[in-house]
Amino acid sequence: MYKMLSLMVGAVGLALVALTAGAQAQTELQSLRGAVPVTETSPPPELQRQETRSGRFRRAYRQQPPMIPHKVDKYEIDLKVNECMRCHDWPFNVEEHAPKISETHYFDRNGVALDRVATSRWFCTQCHVPQIKARELVPNEFKSAIEVGRTE
Ligand code: HEC
Ligand code: HEC
Repeated sequence: MYKMLSLMVGAVGLALVALTAGAQAQTELQSLRGAVPVTETSPPPELQRQETRSGRFRRAYRQQPPMIPHKVDKYEIDLKVNECMRCHDWPFNVEEHAPKISETHYFDRNGVALDRVATSRWFCTQCHVPQIKARELVPNEFKSAIEVGRTE
């Protein structure tokens, strides 16, 4: 009988824990659109300005595609046009004082050297991205290889 009782108390306790956890989840978890019901239009997110800086971003690890230190919203990239190349392809990069695209970008996927940028590198923003100072959507503990090297 005593055993039964403690089992029951245990079960009630568990249920209580589950209930309070459920209630907490309800108040703390929200979708990105906030508390606005799906049937209503939520206000547009605040526009963030792309960060520009003179000089380059430090890479977080050696193989990282360097991040873009200037705005890119006006530069078109489609099947025919790639405005990035107007400054980053040789010889234009010399006059524009822009870094030339990496030599690796002139090799196709079979390692054959080409005289123009490889099609696999055509859509630059697939790998290179501008930066925005924004609150992280999900907390994370990412550390650059440099920081890790320093602290551990
Ligand atoms: C009008 C010329 C111009 C255009 C167009 C342009 N860039 Fe740049 N970009 C520059 C210059 C100049 C720098 C160097 C900035 C510095 O060192 O201060 C730079 C820097 C960069 C870097 C940093 C390289 C590094 O080693 O850190 C990347 C990546 C980059 N641009 C990518 C792009 C991409 C992708 C596009 C197209 C969406 C683009 N750029 C269009 C002029 C341009
Ligand atoms: C598939 C991913 C990818 C694509 C697509 C790509 N890049 Fe890169 N890029 C990289 C990586 C990785 C590096 C650094 C390693 C290296 O040098 O290859 C780099 C390096 C660079 C650099 C720095 C070169 C230096 O010597 O410091 C510039 C500038 C650059 N890319 C511009 C561009 C432009 C412009 C385009 C579009 C025409 C482009 N990249 C497309 C991955 C990519």
